[in-house]
Amino acid sequence: MMNKTEKMLILDFGSQTTALIGRRIREFGVYTEIIAGDAPLTEAVLNGVKGVILSGSPESVYGEGIAPDKRIYECGLPLLGICYGLQRMTTDLGGLVEPLPKVEYGGIEVEIKLGGQKAKHSQFLAAFDAAIPLNQILESGDAGGAEKTRACEPLPDYTPQPAVRFTAWMSHGDTLTRLAPGFVQAGTSASGFPAVALHQEKPWVGVQFHPEVSHCERGSEILAAFAFGICHCKKEWTMERYVEGVRAGLSARAGDNPALLLISGGVDSTVVGALLLKTLPIEQTHLMYIDTGLMRKNETQVVKKALEKLGAKNLHIINAETEFLAALKGKEDPEAKRKIIGDLFITIQEREVASLGLPESYVLAQGTLYTDLIESGKGVGEKARLIKSHHNVGSPLVDAKRKAGKIIEPLDRLYKDEVRALGRLLGVDEDVIARHPFPGPGLAVRILGEVTKEKCDILREADAIFIDELKRRRAPSGTGSLYDEVWQAFAVLLPARSVGVAGDSRKYGWTLALRAIVSSDGMTADVYRFPMEDLLEISGMITNAVKEIGRVTYDISSKPPATIEWE
Ligand code: XMP
Repeated sequence: MMNKTEKMLILDFGSQTTALIGRRIREFGVYTEIIAGDAPLTEAVLNGVKGVILSGSPESVYGEGIAPDKRIYECGLPLLGICYGLQRMTTDLGGLVEPLPKVEYGGIEVEIKLGGQKAKHSQFLAAFDAAIPLNQILESGDAGGAEKTRACEPLPDYTPQPAVRFTAWMSHGDTLTRLAPGFVQAGTSASGFPAVALHQEKPWVGVQFHPEVSHCERGSEILAAFAFGICHCKKEWTMERYVEGVRAGLSARAGDNPALLLISGGVDSTVVGALLLKTLPIEQTHLMYIDTGLMRKNETQVVKKALEKLGAKNLHIINAETEFLAALKGKEDPEAKRKIIGDLFITIQEREVASLGLPESYVLAQGTLYTDLIESGKGVGEKARLIKSHHNVGSPLVDAKRKAGKIIEPLDRLYKDEVRALGRLLGVDEDVIARHPFPGPGLAVRILGEVTKEKCDILREADAIFIDELKRRRAPSGTGSLYDEVWQAFAVLLPARSVGVAGDSRKYGWTLALRAIVSSDGMTADVYRFPMEDLLEISGMITNAVKEIGRVTYDISSKPPATIEWE
């Protein structure tokens, strides 16, 4: 699909920040691809590659850490080693890596001291100089932006400065104790260890720190200088071009066969829906949405409206509320609830898909994202290409279609924020695009204990008031609404009744917890520091409107130790 596009290849040795390297470089307008650190570097893999980045790793080069295909050192491409990546290059090329007496972690000052090989890497060294703005480095790549594709110009008149200091972000327990032949040390950490190494002849550079991490000073500049100054990349990765390629691929894959998409109501599947509707003849696209009865207020209508606006005709909305509530009756254990919902979802999905009577040749579309394909933390070897287990959990339908080569996953090269940009480009409603994440089991994990229709209705009402108010109220920062400021917000119904007063009598009502967190990926989360006035007003609105609720609390636990959801 994207074979003709130039790209930067990232070898993933398992660092938590590998995906971030890819994102940073894509933000510059250069397409990136992440593959397993030990993937064979065949001609096909290296097609269009302008440079290779070797990522960090939690492992050690002399321990469990894996090595790249040796061809990496023979293919003539520029290389950038980051942390383990640099240690890997050093070991593979005849240098030595040993444990540090004391781990270097966090912000560490680095001094760049230049040897006699300045001219060779002057483009790269410009990145370390605070006097050179990022824009200038980006411009050196392609002053005309996406439309022009000429090769980069050198940075004008850059003379490397003799000593430059900046604060890098480090996290390593090993260090280079002997550089590989041909390398020189251009930067040293405050504790006296090598921080930047450059090869005198070849376009090979390495840093002991993590330029992809936002609190690494000059981090973006360093990545940009590698991409443009050393790899001579052009800025040609734009969403418009991506869509062109994806559409062509979609049409070719589907041919005249019907395409079926199972819509969850989230951003990813809705954007895939939009892509199908805008690419294939409308009649060819079938969209199926299963309403479990565990959805938020008006959720089904919002999804339906968004898809109809995009032209959907074959929209199959299955109301399965009764079945789900019956299966959940009397069940209190969170894991049991999750399993019942997952299993029933698969049963209903199979039944309903069969009842559509589509020909065997139909293709199944999925909203799989790039990050779903890179197993977090262990992006090594075979495992790296496995779909994360929470996705399409063991669905026989999906498995069978995958085996038959009848799956299309048009978002599998995109990050979440790119999916949102694509959705906007395709005209998907902002209501759907900006939506907070919602767990597959829905309200069932937000009603602690047994799930009943009555409790679902109570929670739906309370949650809708909370969310509507977040959307209506401006954030203290002044940029957008409170809803935009938090990563995820919702209400939770606790299995506890507490006492209150109603006129002259005592009244027992349910307890509701409000949760609002900030996060970048849901792996960790901080409590949103809610303006107290807003909290008090929203609490009052909820207890006024939803009579069954007697008390409202705000959850002030971060993750860890708590999780985002309550069950
Ligand atoms: P936790 O509660 O694990 O949540 O901190 C992290 C993120 O994952 C969502 N979540 C789920 N999503 N099925 C899903 O599809 C689930 O069973 C599930 N549990 C949690 C949660 O909403 C948050 O965004």
